[in-house]
Amino acid sequence: MGLPSAESAFAVGGQPGPTARFDSGVNPAGVILGIETSCDETAAALVAEGQQVLSSVVSSQVDLHARYGGVVPEVAGRAHVQRIVPVIEQAFKAAQRSADQVTAVAATTGPGLIGALLVGVSAAKALALVWDVPFVSVNHLEAHLHAAFLDEPDLELPAVVMLVSGGHTMLVLMQDRLHYRVIGATVDDAAGEAFDKVARFMGLGYPGGPVIDKLSSQGTRDAIDFPRAMLNDGWNFSFSGLKTAVINYLRRNPEASTEDVAASFQEAVADVLVTKARRAAEEHGAKGLCLAGGVAANSRLREMTREACAADGLAAYLPSRAMCTDNAAMVAAAGWWRLQADGPSPLSVGGDPSWGLPESRSCQLNAH
Ligand code: KG4
Ligand code: ZN
Repeated sequence: MGLPSAESAFAVGGQPGPTARFDSGVNPAGVILGIETSCDETAAALVAEGQQVLSSVVSSQVDLHARYGGVVPEVAGRAHVQRIVPVIEQAFKAAQRSADQVTAVAATTGPGLIGALLVGVSAAKALALVWDVPFVSVNHLEAHLHAAFLDEPDLELPAVVMLVSGGHTMLVLMQDRLHYRVIGATVDDAAGEAFDKVARFMGLGYPGGPVIDKLSSQGTRDAIDFPRAMLNDGWNFSFSGLKTAVINYLRRNPEASTEDVAASFQEAVADVLVTKARRAAEEHGAKGLCLAGGVAANSRLREMTREACAADGLAAYLPSRAMCTDNAAMVAAAGWWRLQADGPSPLSVGGDPSWGLPESRSCQLNAH
């Protein structure tokens, strides 16, 4: 069975429709096609049994958005439309599988940019309908929580997951694969957003995280004592004051070493994140700390997490860069677990740009 044409793939986009046939329980040996288009990566992956990544194809749009200094929603949506079918075809080719081996199609339905989300959601629903397999709606944040397991199948729970990306910064206590609770989150900028905004002010281009990370390796991390907001104040984070402090410092000290500013800024971000994460692990009896999201690629954050875990007797789960950043393998994995727990999603499900981690799936905190 081949892929339907691009036209037919989008024919049912956004329209309520019937639930794809699902009458015989979940096939645990199933192969799930995962689709991710929530922001600026067009991705498709085939994952067997929620664990074995058969293929994972990611087409990044970072070059398209770099000239604007950030993601432009209309540009992202258009690029997803152009890339989604070739990316799905490539996922099949790389896995050496055919469409008739797919037992369900999972797609990120939120949170994210609505015009971007709808491309993947429409494609997934169309394929599920045509192939007569279940469609599974996946929460993007929940997918990030599942990503580390694809690299670390023996990841022990409970664990505190530090989910740090361009759009989100949260500490999540993961009790089991389907039960978790947000312990804390940013009250303003996400960690990645702070990297991007500081880099932009410094004229370093977009995305800012990788370039600040690189520059920092040549700088002195305690050269400038930037503020650590909310360090001893609950579980939430705030990065917008730090961003302003860096900008004010640079205005007052135009001759300052770029490397020192980068290293000191990065140190402040990593310090607050890791300090709170290890505290959360202790308070909630977690066995380890796990990183997720694009900022999890940051070398200092990884180093500090490793050191904190070694000092506290915790396991450090530091997934590969491919599993930290947006990808569709994590969507397929989350979809596999959701399908087992909740069954298929109706084809009337649309995109939900502001979908948080669903409260009904939260676990009770085990405070000591
Ligand atoms: O998860 P992601 O690929 O996309 C979403 O935001 O969903 O994360 C992108 C973010 C950007 O803000 C980027 O600057 C940041 O992750 N980032 C980094 C590094 N690599 C990417 N931040 C700090 N250090 C890095 N090495
Ligand atoms: Zn993401």
